[in-house]
Amino acid sequence: MEQRSHRIIEAEARARSSETARRLRQAAGAGSPQGPAQGARVTLESIVEAVRHLPALPSAVLQIMRMTNDEGVSARDVASVISTDQSLAARILKLANSAYYGLPRAVGTVSDAVILLGMRTVRNMAIAAATHNTLSKEVAGYELGRGDLWRHSLACALAAQMLAEVAHYPEKEEAFVAGLLHDIGKVVLGVHVRDAIALIQQRVETENLTFLEAERAVLGFDHAEVGGRIAARWNLPAPLEQAIACHHQPMQNGQVAPLTALVHIANILCLLAGVGLGADGLHARLSDCALETLGLNAQDIERVLARLVHRIAQAQPLFSAEALLDAPSAGKG
Ligand SMILES: [Fe+2]
Repeated sequence: MEQRSHRIIEAEARARSSETARRLRQAAGAGSPQGPAQGARVTLESIVEAVRHLPALPSAVLQIMRMTNDEGVSARDVASVISTDQSLAARILKLANSAYYGLPRAVGTVSDAVILLGMRTVRNMAIAAATHNTLSKEVAGYELGRGDLWRHSLACALAAQMLAEVAHYPEKEEAFVAGLLHDIGKVVLGVHVRDAIALIQQRVETENLTFLEAERAVLGFDHAEVGGRIAARWNLPAPLEQAIACHHQPMQNGQVAPLTALVHIANILCLLAGVGLGADGLHARLSDCALETLGLNAQDIERVLARLVHRIAQAQPLFSAEALLDAPSAGKG
């Protein structure tokens, strides 16, 4: 009986895979005969084209990112840039007044928020507020329900920041942003992966591939690469673009860039903590070279993991969509 139902499941899986392959071939149309794998005629170029439909980072956010890296910038300069974007300013005030920051008094202006919380914290808030809508969507192809990718991204941002502290990496805020954006490629690719997911999962299971390797085998590229293209399109700094593009395979030309190593490890910590497990689940490998680059050992990682679980619990107000909702509150209770 059990064997029979097993056979049925297998037959169903085969049927699903061949149907997926057929749909992919159909989607590919009658164009070029070349492609990375059966049915995988969705090209990286067509995916990158889809990046056009992704909301760009508001210019105020890009400006703030550049400003906070500049020593000569004052809190007032940052506040005045944020104030040019009313929706952004409203969300920053809402966040600053959330219980998470525990400020002794209500923050009424963006300048106050910058003075009380610091420029870099406000910068992170701005980036989180600007990307929340995009990262909160359901990413069906990766089996991520509404809000799952956001929770995973935010947890990864916190983990990257914590690892940066332990590893004495000087740009902790950079680590936060890289962690937050590392899986942005899934948002675009998710639409296309939805069709290929059965094939990808089959390769993960039968060939012991990581999810990323299977994505590449089926599609010819992966969500990290797509994420790198998005970062380039958003004009994000090169180390950030590299951290996003290489977060699963951090070794490039025989070495691992520190920011990439932070995001790589942070991502795996979040998977271990069970935050945002989608279709790729635990099919990822930790790079020893990433640990070496940061001078961290297994005990450091275990300690950060334990603290991360606690930190995520503490940061619940940030994880809830309410704090970052697009529309400013209507002024009632
Ligand atoms: Fe990823």
